[in-house]
Amino acid sequence: MTEKDRFIIEGGHPLGGHLRVQGAKNSVLPIMAAAVMCRGESRIDNVPDLSDVRTAISILRHLGAKVRREGASLYVDASSLTAHDIPDGLMRRMRSSVFFLGAILAACGRCEMSYPGGCELGPRPIDLHIDALRELGISISEEGGRLTARVEHPRAGDVHLAFPSVGATENAMLAACAIPGTTRIRNAAREPEIRNLQEFLNAAGACILGAGSETIEIRGGRPLHPAHIRIMPDRIVAATWLCAAAAAGGDLFLDEAEEETVATVCRSLRRAGVRIDRERGGLRVRSTGRLRGGEVIRTQPYPGFPTDAQAILMATLAKSEGVSIFVENIFDSRFRHVSELVRMGANIRTEGRTAVVCGVPRLCGCEVCACDLRAGAALCVACLAAEGESTLFHVSHIDRGYENVIQLLNQAGASIRRVAGEEEGGKSGM
Ligand code: EPZ
Repeated sequence: MTEKDRFIIEGGHPLGGHLRVQGAKNSVLPIMAAAVMCRGESRIDNVPDLSDVRTAISILRHLGAKVRREGASLYVDASSLTAHDIPDGLMRRMRSSVFFLGAILAACGRCEMSYPGGCELGPRPIDLHIDALRELGISISEEGGRLTARVEHPRAGDVHLAFPSVGATENAMLAACAIPGTTRIRNAAREPEIRNLQEFLNAAGACILGAGSETIEIRGGRPLHPAHIRIMPDRIVAATWLCAAAAAGGDLFLDEAEEETVATVCRSLRRAGVRIDRERGGLRVRSTGRLRGGEVIRTQPYPGFPTDAQAILMATLAKSEGVSIFVENIFDSRFRHVSELVRMGANIRTEGRTAVVCGVPRLCGCEVCACDLRAGAALCVACLAAEGESTLFHVSHIDRGYENVIQLLNQAGASIRRVAGEEEGGKSGM
């Protein structure tokens, strides 16, 4: 897999059969970081095979942890750490590198790292992370683009997040586990992945209550032992496959899809005329004919409409009847998929944080480019629903969050193949 790999997608094939929803990227990454705090070998099940997971494994090994994968299970032994920093090259590969900050501080009392990379969704500051850790008495200096953190005068107590940041909530949870006393995180993010992290930490001997609500209480100072966890299903991947079936049409069963974690996406799709039913421990999605637009979709922190599904639902409604309006309230620049959808014949205008989608009767296959993870997923959905063949470039973005895309979608009736970067068989690179 290289940067220049591309998908060749023949649109117009309805999706059918069944797909199993993979383990959640945004759950496994903070839990892999948390394993650093456990003295001994932890076991993590249902781990998806993603490039971000491979990056996290590289970070763990750099820190001195022993990591091995057996099928979908990851074994992490952090008994003898030998480093407390993260090399710049690894930091720049993904945003989630920053979750290691709280975990390394809890395990080693000190940490050095540069600013994280990740999808270009506008500025990706970490001020909320730093403010939260400083409220816990952790000293953090920022010089020359590098952070140096020390646990010198730790103090349990209340941490107030100015915004319910997922990452800042998780970093504060991780750091607070090592600080004796009771810490309460106020205005905490409520995403389901945080409940999965709490489940892992409590299985390792921590005492945390309230994940999933706006106040999380951590009774810190207890040494953590190895734990065993199963990663929850990925709700954004589930939302992606729901939208793919809605856009391309068909009758698809999503094994392990949990409606409560994608309730807002299901509501929007049902309003558009898609049938979604709970069946056999998953969700069955049926879609025939043209979808109906007409909704205003505002992204919000969980349990509101997820920002990660905004591009994906927009691609789905690009071919609907009527006008849909999207308001992106979480990230400053999360409409980079719009210009690519317009190349396919979509009629979308953006103004600041608002996108107005006037549904068109058809999308036409053409060359498009993925510019971030979820924009790439959105374009994949659009290509599946388009007439004719599309080439989707820079699919390495998609590899960060979706495992076995080609195999899964072809198994469901799509016609999609991967062309390696240096191979012929695709048009000029973009
Ligand atoms: C997590 O990112 C997810 N990533 C993102 O998913 C998701 O979009 C996001 O939460 C919101 O749900 C992982 O969990 C690995 P935030 P995170 O801190 O923690 C601003 C995907 O596609 N902010 O909740 O980085 C920030 O700029 C990825 O899987 C600050 O200003 O998100 C953004 O506007 C993309 N200062 C907003 O808050 C900070 O210190 C939400 O960010 C931190 C964040």
